[in-house]
Amino acid sequence: MNDIASCCDKNSGKEDVSKDDVQSFYSNAALTPQESLCCPTQYDLGDLSHIPKEVLEISYGCGSPVGKAGLQEGQTVLDLGSGGGIDCFIAAKYVGKTGHVYGIDMTEEMLNVARKNADQVVKNLGYNNIEFKRGFLENIPIEDMSVDLVTSNCVINLSTKKGDVFKEIHRILKNEGRFLIADIISEVEVPDEMRNNKELWGECISGALTLQEFINFARENKFNGLRIQKDYLWKEVSGIKFYSYTIEGSKFSSRENPSDSNSVFATYTGPFDTVIFQGTKFQLGAAVEVDRNTATILSSHSYNGQFILTDPQIEKPTGNTSETSCCS
Ligand SMILES: C[S@@+](CC[C@H](N)C(=O)[O-])C[C@H]1O[C@@H](n2cnc3c(N)ncnc32)[C@H](O)[C@@H]1O
Repeated sequence: MNDIASCCDKNSGKEDVSKDDVQSFYSNAALTPQESLCCPTQYDLGDLSHIPKEVLEISYGCGSPVGKAGLQEGQTVLDLGSGGGIDCFIAAKYVGKTGHVYGIDMTEEMLNVARKNADQVVKNLGYNNIEFKRGFLENIPIEDMSVDLVTSNCVINLSTKKGDVFKEIHRILKNEGRFLIADIISEVEVPDEMRNNKELWGECISGALTLQEFINFARENKFNGLRIQKDYLWKEVSGIKFYSYTIEGSKFSSRENPSDSNSVFATYTGPFDTVIFQGTKFQLGAAVEVDRNTATILSSHSYNGQFILTDPQIEKPTGNTSETSCCS
């Protein structure tokens, strides 16, 4: 399993961080909780009441994608890099006994914690809809088109083959399925010397994509309807800022060319928390991918000043620009 590849599938010709490095990093982090890995994730307390403390102590996510997903009873959810299982356990409650939740992780020690605590979660919920499987993001052990929602919480940055991860997410999603990913995004491309630092990679820093790289991977893998929420500044390392983002994308099979390079991003700037326009929900500060016709309407006089429109081919979408650091 010595899968050595450079971050972002770029052929730098150098030996970077490997999956084995990441795995040994998270074996330790499963056995001994690591303060420095715990981002200031804001979970809704009501979502956590059925989850044992041991799981919460090794919660290493940077967002709360499941709570934002609008899940419905009976849906199938798959969490990539499920770790101690926190997001799977939250999803298990939302989708109810007719739904199903898979947690996928490559690290046995993480899976051991998740499986052990699943017994208590099942007792607390009164039903069992959770399954943890050992596997890789780049080769997900789930059949094609079987999942409604793929979530992932601070994990994609750790992959050494991110293109494969997006391809796999697309393969396992049902038509009109979605991904909701919380991850660390770098304000600029991470330089090679930083990429080769195993510790920084494990800490979710040096494997981070820029927003444009993330959008490119999503588009190349036929996702659209992208929504981008910039959540907070996670860390500044060697003068580079790393932010936590939540990004959603959809798989639409019915459109011929779903990765519409002609689309633009509309960011709602208030005064309300949320508005719905032509069936699309715009949350304050989140950039939402729209077609050019919609963009023209949103830039018209009636919506004057309420939306910022950006073309991802030219500039990156405007998001929530709160720059409060979690760790200073
Ligand atoms: C930062 S932790 C996040 C864990 C969990 N999502 C949470 O919020 O607590 C990253 C997890 O992803 C797993 N992981 C990293 N790269 C992986 C890969 N390529 N395939 C499968 N699991 C991976 C690690 O084993 C670890 O459990």
